[in-house]
Order: sequence, then C-alpha cells, then structure tokens
Amino acid sequence: MSGNKTFTMIKPDAVEAGNIGNITAMIEKAGFKIIAMKYTKLSKEAAGKFYTVHAQRPFYQDLCQYMSSGPIVAMILEKGNAVADFRTLIGATNPADAAEGTIRKLYAKSIEANAVHGSDSDENAQIEGSFFFSAFEQFA
Ligand code: CMP
Repeated sequence: MSGNKTFTMIKPDAVEAGNIGNITAMIEKAGFKIIAMKYTKLSKEAAGKFYTVHAQRPFYQDLCQYMSSGPIVAMILEKGNAVADFRTLIGATNPADAAEGTIRKLYAKSIEANAVHGSDSDENAQIEGSFFFSAFEQFA
C-alpha cells in the first residue's frame, strides 16, 4: 500500500527567485498538508550526503555545489498516495520535458536548477524526511 507522506525541498534557484510562496500555494492547492517545514542552507558536505545515491553520476559534484549555493526550504507533506501524486505535481526532472502546469514547468530553470525535489519512493521519503527533521515521530 502506498504511503501518505513525502519529502520535498524548494531548491536554491526557486528560493532566490522568490517562489517559496507560489510553490507552497500550489502544493496546498493540490491537497497536500505541510506538516513540517524548515528554511535552511546545506553545506556542500550535507548536500553530498543527501544525494549520496547519485555519488557515481557525472553531475554529482555540480549538484552538490548548486544545492549548497543558497538557502532551501525542506518540507514533509501529507496526502493519500503522496509520493506519486507529488511527482505528478512537480513534473519531469528536466523542465523542458515537464507537463504544462507543473511546478517545474512553471518555475524550474534547468535540469539541475529544477526548483523542487520530490522523493521517489516511500522508503526514500522517510530517509530524506529524517535527514532534515530529527523528531522522527513527526514523520512516522
Ligand atoms: P532531484 O529530483 O532533486 O534528484 C537529483 C537531482 O540531480 C535532480 O533533481 C537534478 O537537480 C539533478 N540532476 C538530475 N539529472 C541531471 C543531469 N542530467 N544533469 C544535471 N543535474 C541533474
């Protein structure tokens, strides 16, 4: 059975562009409840740890540099079928391929600076949510 929580980050490009409000409004309008939220900045080391699954990918170093280049907003979201529904709301990783009306189509700048992150499984949602929110029971 699919879970009812997912994890997201509003990335440095979207924070810098002043789109925190626009993006959180879209998230709430789509029926997600924001149950944890944190404005913070990742060190390069922390970004590397968060994206360790991509450590062997050619874009990994650039990704860590970019994700530590400015503040981000981390959130835990609640809704039925949260992971899949949120990935539909944000659209494809590359904004050039993202469907009309999705968050990335509207606000992403490039495949790297793609406005938001969304967990790709219930298991990763839990791991990623716990990375930012130490009160684990908040997410359980
Ligand atoms: P995200 O959903 O946060 O997961 C991994 C991130 O790596 C992705 O969004 C992009 O920011 C980045 N990414 C994925 N593929 C590429 C790529 N081909 N080139 C550069 N960055 C990428």
